[in-house]
Amino acid sequence: MSEVFLVVEDLTVRYGAQQVLQPVSFELKQGERLALIGESGSGKTTLAMAIAGLLPANAKTAGTIRFSALAHEPRAGRDIGVVFQDPDGSLDPMMRVGDQIAEVIVKHLKTSWAEARQRAAELMQQVQIADSQQRLRSYPHEFSGGQKQRIAIAAALAAEPQLLIADEPTSALDTVVQNHVAQLLDGLVRAQGLTMLFVTHDIALASQLADRIAVLYRGRLVELGTVEQVITAPQHDYTKALLATHIGLDWEKQPHLPEIDGVL
Ligand SMILES: Nc1ncnc2c1ncn2[C@@H]1O[C@H](COP(=O)(O)OP(=O)(O)OP(=O)(O)O)[C@@H](O)[C@H]1O
Ligand SMILES: [Mg+2]
Repeated sequence: MSEVFLVVEDLTVRYGAQQVLQPVSFELKQGERLALIGESGSGKTTLAMAIAGLLPANAKTAGTIRFSALAHEPRAGRDIGVVFQDPDGSLDPMMRVGDQIAEVIVKHLKTSWAEARQRAAELMQQVQIADSQQRLRSYPHEFSGGQKQRIAIAAALAAEPQLLIADEPTSALDTVVQNHVAQLLDGLVRAQGLTMLFVTHDIALASQLADRIAVLYRGRLVELGTVEQVITAPQHDYTKALLATHIGLDWEKQPHLPEIDGVL
């Protein structure tokens, strides 16, 4: 059995009088991919950002988040890469994308700028940006939404984090582009053996990208099991309702996302 990467124990989060996370406990193993699903407002982003150490100052937390596999406190951007729903929120519009990726590398991996730019071009290539060397000099607005999200993924992976937290990284994109970005992310996570927390509304996507699925309902973790357990034998009424809305879900026949040719 692989090593435990992360332990969350009785984690609660409050905003003023509103408790948005009831005591939540679970573990993530090294290299495991966990999908976190639940309706809007159920606390998915709150839980993901609590783990990333990126909650806003008005959030009051209690309980424990322990990174058992790390010898030190995790650093967001270094040990934990984060991809947000809106790529415009993670990319600086005034800075060339190559510099944004290279900056992460210089800061966290202490390389020279020349080395970091070279590495940035490789990362751009990995996320399938054509002419990556030239495109390092472009600004975010010169890319499509899907391209920007792929660049945000490159930036999140630039410091070689062990954990990737992706908070609905495809929700702001249209359907075809969504599939492409999800497939690309899936390939990178598998190839690098990353531990991943993937937040989504979409139980079909969750079943394709993750090993286990956790279901949050009104701030409570009401279900946590392997994809097979959750899909074939859901325990909670909310999960059953969620599955009922996905009658066409045929996850066994389609364990991987379909291949899409070309760069979108
Ligand atoms: N910064 C904040 N200040 C006050 N309340 C907040 C803040 N962020 C979130 N909340 C509240 O916490 C609850 C959980 O929000 P959260 O963003 O975690 O939900 P979510 O499951 O990610 O929803 P969505 O699917 O819409 O992204 C909501 O009631 C929300 O209004
Ligand atoms: Mg959210």
